[in-house]
Amino acid sequence: MCGITAFRGTTAAATRARTALERLEYRGYDSAGIAARRPDGTTLHERTVRGVAALAAAVGPAETDATTAAVGHTRWATHGAVTAQNAHPIEDCGGRVFVVHNGIVENAEALRTELRAAGHRFATEVDSEVIAHLIEQALRPGVDLGDALVAARDRLEGSWAVVVLDARSGEIAGTAHASPLICAETGDGVYLASDVGAVVGEVAAFRVLEDDDVVEVGGAGPRWHRHDHSTRPRGLWPVPRTALLGSTGRHDDHMGNEIDEQPAVARRVVDALSPGIADGRLWKGLGLPPLDGVDRVCVVGCGTSLHAGQAIAGVFERLAALPTRALVASEAVHDLWEPRTLVIAISQSGETADVLRALDRLPARRGPVLALTNSTSSSLARRSDAVIDCLAGPEVGVAATKTFVAQVLTGVCVALSGVCASGRADAARFDADLRALVAAPEALRAAVEEWREPSAALAAEFATASGFLFLGRGSGLVYAAEGALKLKELSYRWAEHQPAGELKHGPLALVDAGTPVFVVDNGDPRLDVDIAEVTARGGRIVRIGERVLTVGGSAVHLPRSGPSWGPLDGVVPLQMFARELALRLGRNVDKPRNLAKSVTVS
Ligand code: F6R
Repeated sequence: MCGITAFRGTTAAATRARTALERLEYRGYDSAGIAARRPDGTTLHERTVRGVAALAAAVGPAETDATTAAVGHTRWATHGAVTAQNAHPIEDCGGRVFVVHNGIVENAEALRTELRAAGHRFATEVDSEVIAHLIEQALRPGVDLGDALVAARDRLEGSWAVVVLDARSGEIAGTAHASPLICAETGDGVYLASDVGAVVGEVAAFRVLEDDDVVEVGGAGPRWHRHDHSTRPRGLWPVPRTALLGSTGRHDDHMGNEIDEQPAVARRVVDALSPGIADGRLWKGLGLPPLDGVDRVCVVGCGTSLHAGQAIAGVFERLAALPTRALVASEAVHDLWEPRTLVIAISQSGETADVLRALDRLPARRGPVLALTNSTSSSLARRSDAVIDCLAGPEVGVAATKTFVAQVLTGVCVALSGVCASGRADAARFDADLRALVAAPEALRAAVEEWREPSAALAAEFATASGFLFLGRGSGLVYAAEGALKLKELSYRWAEHQPAGELKHGPLALVDAGTPVFVVDNGDPRLDVDIAEVTARGGRIVRIGERVLTVGGSAVHLPRSGPSWGPLDGVVPLQMFARELALRLGRNVDKPRNLAKSVTVS
């Protein structure tokens, strides 16, 4: 992952690169750094493990405003400890070349040995440093920066977005391979950056480097050297609405606000997409084939996006009796793609390397690929046959919340439309699903209101619990999985999800007096037995989604048959609880440790 920014222009290059970097910190926040050329030819080089804000404090605007070329970086560590020394920009032996890199150099060890033997001195533990020395080696008199970058690039194996600053000439150049990099021109300069979020508000459109394109930025704007040998710039993409940064609303953190936004996001999705369901217009408009033309649907994604895919798969399975499978993108290398498979690739960022690599393995004779993403200009969107925008709006918190809800509802609308277009819908079930879809925004609103206080109370009760179980059955299981994932990533406490029926086959041994056990109730009556088994061992049950009626003074649990995608509103209390517990434990809920929002390494 990591965020890269660079600016070359008439003035304030380091200020521009640093400000842009603030908008990319969600890509990694282990360390940050900046390098820039001053008008007198000297170099400003500042690195810190205290985040992008600390960079601003370390180098005042008077100094950064005077620069005309700069590169910046915010790091998510892969190779080498989190130290200022290992932070980018990384310099060569002579202090001329400053490199920022996103990706992994797989042959770094071999190159390091070779470069050491040639006399280069290494100052960091990171794989990226070989790029700086390779460029230094190639940058002989008469060789321009772009050619030196190409020479270095041709020695690399792995993935990279690289931008290099030649502090002597003030030129910058960038190239990319299996890692995103964009180029955007303002009236007074040129940006290179990992994604469009960096330049939002600065430009109305941007260009995307394709694999092995090189862009050089000298005095007269960007010069393109495309991998197809053309020097024409790549096409322009408009800056999407989703690139605008959100606010924190009534909370101190983005995540709290993003949880609160979920009913409005659901409303936006349902209003925009549901009119295209009954006549199959939404499906056909995406250019997707009738479902009769495919044997199965495969959802592929990672983490929360995979969970969204599993919820969506329920529509194809339960409503249209179409086989589905959910593929963990990082495991796709071990899997065989079956023919006649409709692939739905789900990624809020659209830049997740594991998902892109999984699609690389698709056979030549394959079914269509639909991308479901929050970024319609992303790498995933560009590589897919059809794209649907999940309409979540910007999500800043690293933990996915509103993008999950938006993905589920967008995918559900598409799936329902596909089932209608193919005439495969079971009529009664379809009506029930449609009613549930239309009611989803209100159900989410009620969940947000109802669980605000109880989730805080539960966090207080479980503040010292060391482990948590999340149970579900059928369509509820994926929400249990999502609850466990949220809790792990935010609170750093152990959490495990299980199909409730599996408890007695082993995990029940974990349950002791007071063990917190969250049960996502999708109306399966067998959950009552599972709950009784936990209660008998002293476990503390929190039942999410139960419908209780008081009859003659005693509580009766009502079964509720949920929609084909399960009890979506049940995710709200799980998100809220995870956040409340994390806040109580003093965690940074927007930037959990060791994580990043856009995972561009595989
Ligand atoms: C968890 C979370 C991650 C992402 C995963 C995929 O809260 O955010 O599990 O869901 O890294 O990311 P995208 O959706 O960008 O492909």
